[in-house]
Amino acid sequence: MNVPLLDLVAQYTAIKDEVMPALLRVIEAQQFIMGPAIAQLEAEIAALSRAKHGVGCASGTDALLLPLKALNLKAGDEVITTPFTFFATAGTIHNAGGTPVFVDIEPDSFNIDPAAVARAITPRTRAIIPVDLYGQMAAMERLMKVAQPRRIPIIEDACQAIGARRKIDGEWRAAGELAWVTAYSFFPSKNLGAWGDGGLMVTSDDATAERLRRLRLHGGAKQYHHDEVGTNSRLDTLQAAVLVAKLPHLAAWSAKRRAHAAYYTAALAAVSQVKTPVVDPANEHIFHQYTLRVERRDELQAHLKKDGIGHAVYYPIPLHRQPCFAHLGYRDGSLPHSERAALEVISLPIYPELSRAQLDRVIDAIRGFYR
Ligand SMILES: Cc1ncc(COP(=O)(O)O)c(C=O)c1O
Repeated sequence: MNVPLLDLVAQYTAIKDEVMPALLRVIEAQQFIMGPAIAQLEAEIAALSRAKHGVGCASGTDALLLPLKALNLKAGDEVITTPFTFFATAGTIHNAGGTPVFVDIEPDSFNIDPAAVARAITPRTRAIIPVDLYGQMAAMERLMKVAQPRRIPIIEDACQAIGARRKIDGEWRAAGELAWVTAYSFFPSKNLGAWGDGGLMVTSDDATAERLRRLRLHGGAKQYHHDEVGTNSRLDTLQAAVLVAKLPHLAAWSAKRRAHAAYYTAALAAVSQVKTPVVDPANEHIFHQYTLRVERRDELQAHLKKDGIGHAVYYPIPLHRQPCFAHLGYRDGSLPHSERAALEVISLPIYPELSRAQLDRVIDAIRGFYR
C-alpha cells in the first residue's frame, strides 16, 4: 500500500455533491468577477479570525504583498521576518521595495524568535512578519510586546494556519485576530484549499481594509478613478464559491489532522533518532504539516521513497542562504537554528482522509529504517 503525501481526490470525492452545485450557480449566473460568493467568504473568514474585515485577493503571496505595498516602503526600509518559511514571505518584502531582515527561529516551534526580533529593530524597521509555520501560531503576545511600543505593524503570515488558536492571558485568540493585517493562502494543499490559486487578508482597521480593497483593484475605489497604482489581484468568484462550500468542514478536517498527529507522535515516541513536533502548550495546532526532526534525513527520504511513502522537506534552504538574497550578506552559520532545521526536517502525510492502516504503514516504514 502506497501512502501519498496528499490525496486531494479523497476530499473531492467526499464533498463534490456540495461544491459542484455552488460552482454551477456561479457559472449559470455568469458572474465570474467579484460575484456574491466573495463577500460571503470575506465575512466568514473575518468571523473565523475574529477580525472586522476580510479582503479576498488572488493568492497568499498577494495577501502579503498588498499590505506591504500599503506601507509605501522606500529603498532601505527594513522588514523583519524568519528565513525558515516559504519563499513568498520574503520575496514580497523585496517586491514591495523593502529589504528583508532575517532573524532566527525558536528550535522547538520553528517560529520566529521574538527576542531576536527585538535585537534586529533599527530606525528603518517598518514591519515584522511572523509566520505561523506548519499550522502553529507564532508567539504573538511576545511579538506584540516588542512591536507595539515602537508602533511597528505586524503582518501575520497565516498562510498555513487558518483556524489556529493561541491562549493568551487565559483567553483563546485566533490567527488573524491580533496582527495589523493577516495573510491567508488557499493554495489547493492548504487545510482550506481552493481548486486553483486564491488568498485573503483580514484586518480590524477600517482604513486599512479600504486601502487593501483599492490596491487589489488597480488602486481605485471607483471604476476608472485611480487614487494610487494598485494591481489586479481579485479572488476568482469560482474559487470563492468552492471555499464557501468547503469552509463548514474546516474545523473537522483540522481536528482529524490533530488526531493523526497525536497517533504518529505516540507511535514514534520510542524512536530515539526522531524528534516529534513540539506543540507550544498555549497553541491549538492545525497541523497543516506534521514535521519531524530526524537523524540521517536524506537516507530516510530515500528509504521512504523506495517504500512508497510520500514525504517532503519544508524547507531545504533557509531564505537567508538563497542565491537571490546573497547581496544581503548572511553567511553560513549566521542563523544556526534555521540552518539546522533545514537539514533535519521531514514532513509526513497528515491529510484528514488518511486511514489508520495508512498511518500504521508510515510508522512501520520509519521504525523499520531506524531499527
Ligand atoms: C508560509 C506561506 N507564505 C506564503 C504562501 C504563499 O501563498 P500562495 O501560494 O497562495 O501564493 C504560502 C503558501 O504557499 C505559505 O505557506
